[in-house]
Amino acid sequence: MADALAKYLPDNGNVEGELLELLAFNEKMAELGRMAAGVVHELNTPLSVIVSATQMILREEELPEFVREMVERVNEEAHRLAELTKGVLSFARRDSGGRAEADANQVIGEVMTFLRFEAGKRSIGVIEDLDHRLPFIAADANRVKQVIINLVMNAFQAMGEGGTLFLRTVQESETAVTVQVADTGPGIPPDAQERIFTPFFTTKEPGEGTGLGLFITRKLMEGIGGAIAVKSVVGEGTTFTLTFPVAE
Ligand SMILES: Nc1ncnc2c1ncn2[C@@H]1O[C@H](COP(=O)(O)OP(=O)(O)OP(=O)(O)O)[C@@H](O)[C@H]1O
Ligand SMILES: [Mg+2]
Repeated sequence: MADALAKYLPDNGNVEGELLELLAFNEKMAELGRMAAGVVHELNTPLSVIVSATQMILREEELPEFVREMVERVNEEAHRLAELTKGVLSFARRDSGGRAEADANQVIGEVMTFLRFEAGKRSIGVIEDLDHRLPFIAADANRVKQVIINLVMNAFQAMGEGGTLFLRTVQESETAVTVQVADTGPGIPPDAQERIFTPFFTTKEPGEGTGLGLFITRKLMEGIGGAIAVKSVVGEGTTFTLTFPVAE
């Protein structure tokens, strides 16, 4: 267990810092698990109604052929969706087989599969502007996932209800790819813009935020050999820019 966790921590010999990260990492994973379970729960109830209702219809003997075919299709697709919800649960698995290469667009796709549900609940629009000729980045997909989840959750929490989330990928140069996560939330005052990356800086109510998200995010980005920067205008919104090294 300790070994498995150790590979997710930067090797800087800073025991206190590592413990802090470990704590927060576990908390994030638990949060993720709860959200995934929530999605599955919400989906499974209507899905089982669809499956049993279609089965009842199919038991009728005098169905026009067209109706039978259509209802069979609905039944099959509902089964397929049920399989998909199982896939959501396996999402939180952290093992990526040691491959330190990731497709940033694909990671965004996977993350948004279940965060889109949260966006919908909050009436937040999502606009993606992804560069489809993006090269692979030199990073573990699960770390990249964690970073993007942290930023998207912050954006959701900042906007509350309504607003727009923007996700953008660009090949910046031969050696760098950038991922931007932007929101139309309240923004961050200039004097707070550096402090947001320090441990335990939070403006959230006790019990709502630990103030460790961006601290960990910056650590993860440094571990990858990348960087994170923020631009924000109070009353307009906030943009976080992640810079990743391109894979060899
Ligand atoms: N997109 C954003 N818009 C406005 N403020 C933000 C945004 N992202 C972060 N912040 C500010 O930075 C603070 C620190 O963020 P961070 O993710 O480190 O901790 P947190 O979200 O408060 O708690 P945790 O991530 O541990 O649940 C937030 O409390 C908030 O004040
Ligand atoms: Mg946060």
